[in-house]
Amino acid sequence: MSVLNASNVVKIYKGLGKSNSTKALNGICLTIENGEFVAIMGPSGSGKTTLLNILSGIDKLTSGDIEISGQNINVMTKDELALFRRRHLGFVFQEFNLLDSLTLKENVMLPMILDDKEPEDIQSKTDEVMAMFNIEDIMEKYPYTVSGGQQQRTAISRAIINNPDSF
Ligand SMILES: Nc1ncnc2c1ncn2[C@@H]1O[C@H](COP(=O)(O)OP(=O)(O)OP(=O)(O)O)[C@@H](O)[C@H]1O
Ligand SMILES: [Mg+2]
Repeated sequence: MSVLNASNVVKIYKGLGKSNSTKALNGICLTIENGEFVAIMGPSGSGKTTLLNILSGIDKLTSGDIEISGQNINVMTKDELALFRRRHLGFVFQEFNLLDSLTLKENVMLPMILDDKEPEDIQSKTDEVMAMFNIEDIMEKYPYTVSGGQQQRTAISRAIINNPDSF
């Protein structure tokens, strides 16, 4: 089964004049199967970030179709997309984007809290995922008091906690 199916994705960044527009994606077709690991490589400016922003619904495509887990994300409103991202996609950013005013544990819990999950469920999933990444002993610490690798594992825990299939 495919988790992602993109066909003929075109993205044109419109500039001020006609000559100022940039065609960043020129009819991309991409299928990702369940359980597959995929890396996107290419020279600077070739459109990697543009593609990821569009596949994740952060930016709008100019034309084409994107289906994730059988749902067509092109037709979703901004609010529907935000909910879809929270429930179906996990992001690990280059600078981990952890919230400094929250403990590591609270950072990890956040997607479940926003989704109004049961407190016991939140607690047990958080314990489970943080133990899996060996950060259960530092869960009450704040992001700026732990190492880069510990922050990274916290960010990964947060990225997958709402998706029970991933652990
Ligand atoms: N917001 C924008 N407005 C206009 N043009 C843009 C915008 N963002 C990117 N571009 C252009 O679109 C093309 C693809 O850019 P993109 O950021 O997707 O490249 P990339 O592959 O991620 O590059 P890098 O490896 O340098 O991060 C480039 O020509 C870039 O200048
Ligand atoms: Mg980039």
